[in-house]
Amino acid sequence: MKIVSTVKELLGLLEEVNRSSLGFVPTMGALHRGHISLIEKAVSQCPVIVVSIYVNPTQFNDREDLKRYPRPLGKDLNLLRKYLRKDDIVFTPDDKEMYPDEDNRLFSFGNLDNVMEALHRPGHFNGVAQVVSRFFEIIMPGIAFFGFKDFQQVAVIKELVKQNHYNIKIEICTIIREEDGLAMSSRNILLEPQIRKDAPVIYNTISRVSEMMKKNDIPEIKSYVKETIEKKPGFHVEYFEIADDEKLIPAGTKNELKEGKHYYGCIAVRAGEVRLIDNIEIVWP
Ligand code: PAJ
Repeated sequence: MKIVSTVKELLGLLEEVNRSSLGFVPTMGALHRGHISLIEKAVSQCPVIVVSIYVNPTQFNDREDLKRYPRPLGKDLNLLRKYLRKDDIVFTPDDKEMYPDEDNRLFSFGNLDNVMEALHRPGHFNGVAQVVSRFFEIIMPGIAFFGFKDFQQVAVIKELVKQNHYNIKIEICTIIREEDGLAMSSRNILLEPQIRKDAPVIYNTISRVSEMMKKNDIPEIKSYVKETIEKKPGFHVEYFEIADDEKLIPAGTKNELKEGKHYYGCIAVRAGEVRLIDNIEIVWP
């Protein structure tokens, strides 16, 4: 694999590469099996791929979160060597390379800006859109790979592609979990030992929602999810919503659910100092 950290070097390497089959996997590093699943899928579909490792400051609404975000670059590169081929590229830009001038662009994603993550992390998706659009415009891949763990991010990226008429196919990969059910995340290593032990309560609880939908309505289910998770010391549920995967409109009651649409239970939890998100498909009725 090749490692470059400037746009100029990257464009040099991409000069001869057919962009329509070029794969792109954006990451913020601290790579785990969730990232690797995206990379394996990209390698299986594309003759050349670019993996970016860049902790994008503009998408962090919490300065402390940005400061503590893990950055084990050497370890990440060693891991990537196992999966990437000779011509695949790892792009590790710094802030100056990504933002030579301040990025003041404001994106608008309609309802996607007004629900769930957008409400709890103001400016987050604007930052994601800034960095991803910049990557897309530099790299011009044919296919880009994203994980379904970041449910709302997927919807935002699809909307970004639509609004900007990018000729990029978006491939989605399923959520990879630890053996005990906790969704893999770069932030998991920041969890205190007892909090880490209790963290599977998130997935275990949302896993019961489909079954509960047979007898209970959404307000009761939301209370159940919140109460069950908050029984664990240090856990606080920021939101649990049942939303469709297109417009992401949270449903207030079962009557609002429409046949033929796909619904997901989406959750954000503060586990000690760390914010975790997860989601699960709601199979109903
Ligand atoms: P990061 O959190 O590093 O995630 C990079 C990609 O890996 C995202 O598409 C994310 O959804 C996917 N991913 C993370 N955990 C996963 C898991 N357990 N299973 C499957 N996929 C998983 O998401 C970002 O970075 C940034 O917002 C980025 C898109 C790179 C823009 O800065």
